[in-house]
Amino acid sequence: MTTQLARTAEELHALPREGRRAVVMTMGALHEGHATLVREARRLAGPDGQVVVTVFVNPLQFGPNEDLDRYPRTLDADVLLADQAGADVVFAPAADEVYPGGEPQVRITAGPMGERLEGASRPGHFDGVLTVVAKLLHLTAPDLALFGQKDAQQLALIRRMARDLNFPVEIVGVPTVREGDNLALSSRNRYLSDADRASALELSRALLTGAAALEAGPAAVRRSARAILDAAAAMEPPVVLDYLALVDPADFTEVADDHSGEAVLAVAARVGTTRLIDNVHLTFGERR
Ligand code: PAJ
Repeated sequence: MTTQLARTAEELHALPREGRRAVVMTMGALHEGHATLVREARRLAGPDGQVVVTVFVNPLQFGPNEDLDRYPRTLDADVLLADQAGADVVFAPAADEVYPGGEPQVRITAGPMGERLEGASRPGHFDGVLTVVAKLLHLTAPDLALFGQKDAQQLALIRRMARDLNFPVEIVGVPTVREGDNLALSSRNRYLSDADRASALELSRALLTGAAALEAGPAAVRRSARAILDAAAAMEPPVVLDYLALVDPADFTEVADDHSGEAVLAVAARVGTTRLIDNVHLTFGERR
């Protein structure tokens, strides 16, 4: 194994810096979705560049009733997977390394886009995400940073933060990696029983059914996806819908029925005790 593990900022900064540096930020419990980001980072950084994977379960982005305590922690396996995907360095700091004085007083505020959809269901979540992403960007000082479209609103907010606050980094989005049955890979999938998983498949099915109505316009896309989710609410276990939304990727506001151009069809739902999110990108043609 060639990947080096750094547990403190001091250890990280002591490592030689080589060529273009690409960073992939994660909360660990790495899976093939994360591996795809790391491989893409390797490709973009080039053979002479350096790929840094951060592993940190950020307490700041979990609400009081969320799964911070039960979030899976699998560092040994994570280092192995990062190594196989082409990482040079894994930076896995402890909480008091990232937040030495406890929770920070000064934070990044996500603004209105951070209060919609995921932000409405998880108050303060995106402030916590952006605060840790800003800190990790400062600690790792990369030329580019890669994030998954799986978390479309997070990606949009990180792009916005980099632009609004002049972070000298290129933000790269990577398409969602799915299982053969279209379930989006997620660290939380390991909580799903077989029955949960069967219900969870209705999320991607709803999105793909919605996407198939593209030609008929936004209202038809919403209606088609909604019909699948309405039926899924009667399954055992039920798919308990949090939101289904068809939004503008620039600000995550709902698009009008005559919208043309880019849009994101996004869904969040609970299956058993597990909360899942998924989305697809769509491009609407001009409507007559
Ligand atoms: P985490 O959920 O571990 O995800 C780390 C990165 O992997 C994110 O950019 C996420 O979008 C991406 N990712 C997860 N599943 C994916 C999939 N199926 N396909 C493609 N990309 C996928 O997102 C976070 O951690 C945190 O909020 C973080 C940005 C690290 C800040 O704490």
